[in-house]
Amino acid sequence: MCPGVVSCADILAMAARDAVVLTGGPYWKVPNGRKDGRISNAIDSLDLPFPTASLSELHQSFTQRGLSMKDLVALSGGHTLGFSHCSSFQNRIHNFNEKTIIDPSLDRSFAERLREVCPMHNKEHGAGAYFDTTPTVFDNSYFKLLIQGKSILSSDQALLSSNKTKALVTKFATCQEEFYAAFVKSMIRMSRISGNGTEIRLDCGVPN
Ligand code: HEM
Repeated sequence: MCPGVVSCADILAMAARDAVVLTGGPYWKVPNGRKDGRISNAIDSLDLPFPTASLSELHQSFTQRGLSMKDLVALSGGHTLGFSHCSSFQNRIHNFNEKTIIDPSLDRSFAERLREVCPMHNKEHGAGAYFDTTPTVFDNSYFKLLIQGKSILSSDQALLSSNKTKALVTKFATCQEEFYAAFVKSMIRMSRISGNGTEIRLDCGVPN
């Protein structure tokens, strides 16, 4: 690729970095040089881990892409920003398993609040919950709340289900600087995943 030429994939990675910087998080230099794909199918998104994923499913999904368990924990910290719709966590609050309706790892009053905003037959399309109490600030409160049983997704809660990942959660909850350093390293590792790109799109919305 010619020097200075950036692909749409690179632009997306830079936009993600800029969103982190604008919300008070760390800065890093995005490695450019990834090519764009020739095809784009909604069905390919099924390859991404589901919000109901267990730790072993998350592990498989990450190692398959050359990412480690430390990358998994650090990158899940991306859930310090933004919002989740009810459908992504209803498994935890209405029909958890044959024995219990509510995921017992959830703080009880937190679960009740989630059930209020997301009733069983929710008709409100926009309803849901923020991942943490400071959804526009890139901080480590996601990890602090996770330890308190106040996580949104089963895939977030899963990070507490092995000693190794739990120790990382505790470390990031205690020290924001450690979280920042690990997050930057993992974002750079993730932006090096090459996929099957072959071209630089002239219009990011369509293959050339
Ligand atoms: C580990 C596997 C992951 C799973 C299973 C997962 C799943 C999800 C789900 C289900 C939502 C909510 C969608 C909705 O209901 O509207 C969400 C939102 C979000 N995720 Fe993840 N995610 C994962 C990893 C990541 C990573 C690696 C990042 C970035 C580094 C990230 C950043 C975000 C952000 C910022 C939002 C909020 C979007 C918004 O407010 O519209 N997630 N994720």
